[in-house]
Amino acid sequence: MESGPDEGIGAGSGPLRKKALMALYAAGCPPNVIKHSLAVAELAMEISRAIERNGVRIDADLVEAGALLHDIGRARTHAIDHAIVGASMVRGMGFPEALARMVEVHVGAGIPADEAEELGLPRRDYLPTTLEEKIVAYADKLVDEDRRMAPEEFARRFSKALGPGHPAISRFWRLHREISELMGRGSRVS
Ligand SMILES: [Fe+2]
Repeated sequence: MESGPDEGIGAGSGPLRKKALMALYAAGCPPNVIKHSLAVAELAMEISRAIERNGVRIDADLVEAGALLHDIGRARTHAIDHAIVGASMVRGMGFPEALARMVEVHVGAGIPADEAEELGLPRRDYLPTTLEEKIVAYADKLVDEDRRMAPEEFARRFSKALGPGHPAISRFWRLHREISELMGRGSRVS
């Protein structure tokens, strides 16, 4: 089943979910981006639930909406600045600033100012800092289109794309360790 913000895939029920889905359609996001975003939201919610079972509070509504919106900028560009473009679209649509932030820092495992500048982005840190931001950035890394992949597979691809030893790869593994520890043993993703 495809088409329209009422579809039940992933079936979260947060109050922001429908608004986020409608925003994707209104922005003209391509269907494959919407499919990817739904898959990321589903994984992000599974991660959130596993972490919450260990007594850590998470704003799951924000995680779900952030995961749905993270690639909204791809309605306009697939370049690396889709995160910045997307964040500004989200701000313009009247979503909370926390959601714009989640969109802005989802690329890679975050990008520090010096690397951002090398990539041609405005020089500042684009690093996920809140747990909600980290969950969305992490879940996005483990979903290729709408297919889940193991952290090892992502790291292999990342290393092939960036060159072995690139600092972004160890940033990804740090993020992986942090999320995995919060999820606890036996809760491996994918
Ligand atoms: Fe993205």
